[in-house]
Amino acid sequence: MSEFSLYDDPDLYDLVFGATPAVISFYTEHARQVGGPILELACGTGELLVPMARGGSACVGLDISPAMLARAQAKADAAAVQVELVQGDMCSFDLGRQFRLVLVASNSLLHLHELESLRQLFEAVRRHLAPDGQLIFDVTNPDIHGLSRAPAERRQLEDIEHADWGVLSVEESSEYDAVSQVTRSRYYVCSAERRNLRKFSLRLRNIFPRELELLIASCGFVLTSRFGDFTGSPFTATSPHQVCVCADTSQAARLTKSIT
Ligand SMILES: C[S@@+](CC[C@H](N)C(=O)[O-])C[C@H]1O[C@@H](n2cnc3c(N)ncnc32)[C@H](O)[C@@H]1O
Repeated sequence: MSEFSLYDDPDLYDLVFGATPAVISFYTEHARQVGGPILELACGTGELLVPMARGGSACVGLDISPAMLARAQAKADAAAVQVELVQGDMCSFDLGRQFRLVLVASNSLLHLHELESLRQLFEAVRRHLAPDGQLIFDVTNPDIHGLSRAPAERRQLEDIEHADWGVLSVEESSEYDAVSQVTRSRYYVCSAERRNLRKFSLRLRNIFPRELELLIASCGFVLTSRFGDFTGSPFTATSPHQVCVCADTSQAARLTKSIT
């Protein structure tokens, strides 16, 4: 059984975590409404960046993984759209220009486990946001039943159809550390012939709803809307996601002043 680093293997990433039509349409619709230029942090294989660029917005994608960026470029070439791709750390980058929309999609923010890294990310976003700009990100709404699962419990997530391997089953086990609030999830991709064809792990931070409000406010942003899913439903206790639309506090205050 071989273990992969997920972000060194874009095929595996797209196979297991490729963006759903609902996620793509939520972000492309916001991109269409707000207009460019758009910066997607942790853009991965371009699952969202390429459709947004296809909609006509000027798009820049930043990611730390060269393999994920190479796949994003290949997708942009195949779709005949222009995107600018930058290798870098979303906590410490300087592109020297501003954007009307900055996105951190698909739980990417949860790769930052420490408060200091989260602060650095919000600070970097502020430097890159145009005066009327928006920051949109989505993170999971922590599910206490899921967090309390025994580490040995392995559950089936989904079946995926693969051209060469036939039907693949994706299974997961997870272990939550209540001090760091980080969950280590192990994923197993299984075929009919091989139970553990591919295996990889991810360590993602959990951010609880009230903690998220405090984090956003303490980093100088205002949470202008929070949806519970990608169809724009209101956020509730049982929502699967926290889809957050934020503005820089100083800019939001300036806009409110100019209205009153
Ligand atoms: C869940 S994927 C999201 C990809 C893309 N946003 C999507 O919706 O398909 C997370 C991405 O975050 C990137 N990443 C992790 N830590 C990062 C960091 N500190 N700076 C920039 N990218 C990072 C990984 O390389 C990976 O491509």
